[in-house]
Amino acid sequence: MTTELRVGVAGLGTVGASLLHLLETRSSALAARCGRSVRVSAVSARDRTRDRGADLSAMAWFDDPVALAGSPDIDVFVELIGGDNGPAEDSVRAALATGKSVVTANKALLAKHGVELARLAEENKVSLSYEAAVAGGIPVIKTMRESLAGNEIDRVYGILNGTCNYILTRMEQDGLDFSDCLADAQRLGYAEADPTFDIEGNDTAHKLAILTSLAFGSQINSEKIYLEGISSITRADIEAASELGYRIKLLGVAQRTDSGIEQRVHPTMVPKASAIARIDGVLNAVAIDGDAVGEVVLVGPGAGGSATASAVLGDIVDVARGLSVPTLGMPAHELAPYKAARMRMHEGGYYIRLAVYDRSGAFAEIARIMADEGISLESIVQRDRTRTHTEAETHGDAPQPVILTTYETTEAAVKRALGTITARNVVAGTPQMIRIEKLR
Ligand code: NDP
Ligand code: HSE
Repeated sequence: MTTELRVGVAGLGTVGASLLHLLETRSSALAARCGRSVRVSAVSARDRTRDRGADLSAMAWFDDPVALAGSPDIDVFVELIGGDNGPAEDSVRAALATGKSVVTANKALLAKHGVELARLAEENKVSLSYEAAVAGGIPVIKTMRESLAGNEIDRVYGILNGTCNYILTRMEQDGLDFSDCLADAQRLGYAEADPTFDIEGNDTAHKLAILTSLAFGSQINSEKIYLEGISSITRADIEAASELGYRIKLLGVAQRTDSGIEQRVHPTMVPKASAIARIDGVLNAVAIDGDAVGEVVLVGPGAGGSATASAVLGDIVDVARGLSVPTLGMPAHELAPYKAARMRMHEGGYYIRLAVYDRSGAFAEIARIMADEGISLESIVQRDRTRTHTEAETHGDAPQPVILTTYETTEAAVKRALGTITARNVVAGTPQMIRIEKLR
């Protein structure tokens, strides 16, 4: 047996504490699988007094994760702090620069600095592994980078944020309010330290940026991704979607189009019969369309301490076994810049919810504006038109909810039509618009 692998872990929160627990309880199995023992020799976090649910007495403590990363007493550095700068970035750079392989779950860091860090890893002949950074426990990085390396990939899409999927599922199934569902997701350890990254779609965009690079051999650029989160989704939308035969999911989609690579993150109506519609709670799903293999769909827990630590540990095992592949599937200098397709060119169906003033001619005007933009309406439903004559007299022309769905059209046409409808003063407030994705 070769010498043991000494692991330094920075960050002992939801994921770090679960990792310590897994490494402690699986130590003999890991030694057998790796042909050497794997031991946490040093750790770093902010609060030394906090109970981490593990015995830290045999581990060196570092207040400064950068000092831990540079320590000659560790062989691999595991970064579980989070954030795209500060101690996470500094410690990862320090570890790579001092010739240590790095394992991280930090998608924000990779989305911002991934190519540069990949180059640093190559220069120092070490590996940079990040299975846990995308879709938690699902082995999507290895699948795309290694198992599907013989494919040309045309599209990768999926549910990439456990917190959002948990919130949308509980709002639909349990009739709970958004804020209560988010509080539960935080309590369960699914959410980011700043949960606006989850609910506004940034976390999904970080993951999609990484998957785009693996799929298309491109550089990483999360700034090019069209982004909309789930905070505007109401129970009314969820109920209307269900009546129309859809469920609402936050999807990340990257696909080749004639005008470039389309990358978008937004709430999406998916047919109830599709595989993606059946992914509930904290589960994530990633679908990859390869030219040789066809569609591959991976499903599993997308967040949570144990599931994420499972992916981190898989990467540590690779290091212990001496396995290494290029960080983003090819040498960093081979990764090409890419042309991003403009969102206004996106084509698809749309769900539109309007609060229409209860006046004669309002419906006709909306239909005319849509027709002028060449938009063909699939359905129009006026909801809750249950007021009595007396109520109507009391409330005047108070707005009534109207739901439209369109056949396939362009984003540009829908945006123009909604702009005109709003300007003509036939609706109150801002129209709600949700894209419909025709998935199998
Ligand atoms: P937590 O907020 O639970 O833990 C963060 C840890 O980092 C804490 O232990 C904290 O110390 C430590 N820390 C913060 N600042 C410093 C610092 N300056 N020096 C040393 N330690 C510091 O986060 P998570 O465990 O949830 O997430 C960690 C990473 O994993 C993030 O990148 C996240 O995006 C990613 N991830 C998380 C998943 C999840 O389900 N939670 C799933 C997939 C990826 P202290 O405890 O003392 O405050
Ligand atoms: N906050 C993230 C999520 C953690 O909810 O998916 C996993 O990356």
